[in-house]
Amino acid sequence: MSFLQRRLSEQAKREAEERASFEAALSGFDEPEPAQPAPAAPPPAPAAPARVKEEAPAPAANGHETVAKLRTSPRVAQLRKQLRPKLLSTPDEADEWKRGDREKEQLIVTRLNTVLQKAGMQLSQAEYEELKEALLNDLLGFGAIEPLVQSKAISEIMVTGADMIFAEQKGKLRENEIVFDDEEHIQWTAQRIVRPLQRTLDRANPMVDARLPDGSRVHIVMPPSALKGTTITIRKFPSKPLTVDDLIRFGSFTREVAQFLEACIVSRLNIVVAGGTGSGKTTLLNVLSSYIPEEERILTIEDAAELQLTQRHVVSLETAPPIPGGNGVDGRLTIRDLVKGSLRMRPDRVVVGECRGGEALDMLQAMNTGHDGSLTTVHANSPRDAVARLETLCLMAGMDLPVLVIRQQIAAAINMFVQQARLKDGSRKIVQVTEVQGMEGSNITLQDVFVYRTPGQTGQGYSHAGGGALEPTGFRPNFEEKLREHGFKLGANVFGGGSKFNK
Ligand SMILES: Nc1ncnc2c1ncn2[C@@H]1O[C@H](COP(=O)(O)OP(=O)(O)OP(=O)(O)O)[C@@H](O)[C@H]1O
Ligand SMILES: [Mg+2]
Repeated sequence: MSFLQRRLSEQAKREAEERASFEAALSGFDEPEPAQPAPAAPPPAPAAPARVKEEAPAPAANGHETVAKLRTSPRVAQLRKQLRPKLLSTPDEADEWKRGDREKEQLIVTRLNTVLQKAGMQLSQAEYEELKEALLNDLLGFGAIEPLVQSKAISEIMVTGADMIFAEQKGKLRENEIVFDDEEHIQWTAQRIVRPLQRTLDRANPMVDARLPDGSRVHIVMPPSALKGTTITIRKFPSKPLTVDDLIRFGSFTREVAQFLEACIVSRLNIVVAGGTGSGKTTLLNVLSSYIPEEERILTIEDAAELQLTQRHVVSLETAPPIPGGNGVDGRLTIRDLVKGSLRMRPDRVVVGECRGGEALDMLQAMNTGHDGSLTTVHANSPRDAVARLETLCLMAGMDLPVLVIRQQIAAAINMFVQQARLKDGSRKIVQVTEVQGMEGSNITLQDVFVYRTPGQTGQGYSHAGGGALEPTGFRPNFEEKLREHGFKLGANVFGGGSKFNK
């Protein structure tokens, strides 16, 4: 046996003994409530490293940034895994507990100390501290990603696999140094997230889309559908929603465009915000809705309530998932059900979070039958694309309407598209404001009122690069008269005289 083999087999033996003595200590741990006085942390063993920062891997061939991962040491990771289920008296004991609740944290720490003492486990101070934090995060928090969840600077977290976690900060999505120990660790966290929400995540319900108590949105998909392991996506709920002034300050649009949008909302135009995933549609919808006059009755309909309107007379409706184990009773309410039902609630305005299916047709009908001033969003990359998307969604309503009829409905119902985009530099901006002018033959005619341009840009449409400006095209919309009727006389400072970049 070579020296190395001998060392490896000794190490394996030591680890096996440690695990066995530890299991023995845990088996007597049926009644974990602390005997007073609480046992103190065990004395530290000689220094042994806890978290290990790996060496940064070489940059990827395709130029992608690579990240040095911050890993839990194998010993702490092993203890963390063994102890996770054992420090709770029932699996759901800590469901309502939170990180930061000193009393509960102390309870867990006391149980941990008891077990470590019973097992005669020698840990270095660094290992002990890391194990304690790790277990508190697993039992009371979001596991490995707890620091990201707590950080105010991070707006979105994506767990793509144990070794691949991305976080968005200031509009930039970057791979993070944090990792989960393994797939089981992610699944533990996923279960900890869904259980208090009365939702089930298992082979029969492998995908969960839900809202956390603080309003954040969480989406989880399990294997086998998620090929690299359980994926978790968390869109954090801003503690303070972004306001018109914030968006102007960020350069998402100009003050003149804000004036124009306010005029359009007050004048009861039907507006559709279009944009890609995570482009800022909901944020913009919230900002646009803030222009709705205080005295109007507003009905909001969403999949997971995200809108935060400040007006008083707001009825907020949210879809309901099927009742888990409902024994044939479904209990489900879809966006479509809610949109249909909303018209009997005498709303002055209907704001639908997103049209993703047949509800688009109900929404158009509502807009065409006196419920003007309605707002919604669709997933599309340009206003022209949004028209096509709406046509498809209306076909999904299953009413067998000819496309031409649907098109006529769209042309009659919608006054304007506002296109939102996330640009290459990570910023989110309005990139196109487009009037729906009507029909020409069998086609819908669109006219841009504002377009985002960059210096030296050639070609049509909006620019995807940063460093440009949302400029008036010089065209005044046909609905300008309607704005005037409502007291908005917008001048050349708003509608301008065409692009300075792209004449
Ligand atoms: N104009 C903006 N400037 C900076 N950040 C923004 C802007 N608009 C939105 N954000 C941020 O971008 C993230 C995504 O925004 P939002 O939820 O509005 O996008 P979305 O298009 O509705 O996404 P989804 O397609 O998932 O519904 C949020 O964290 C939000 O705070
Ligand atoms: Mg959204």
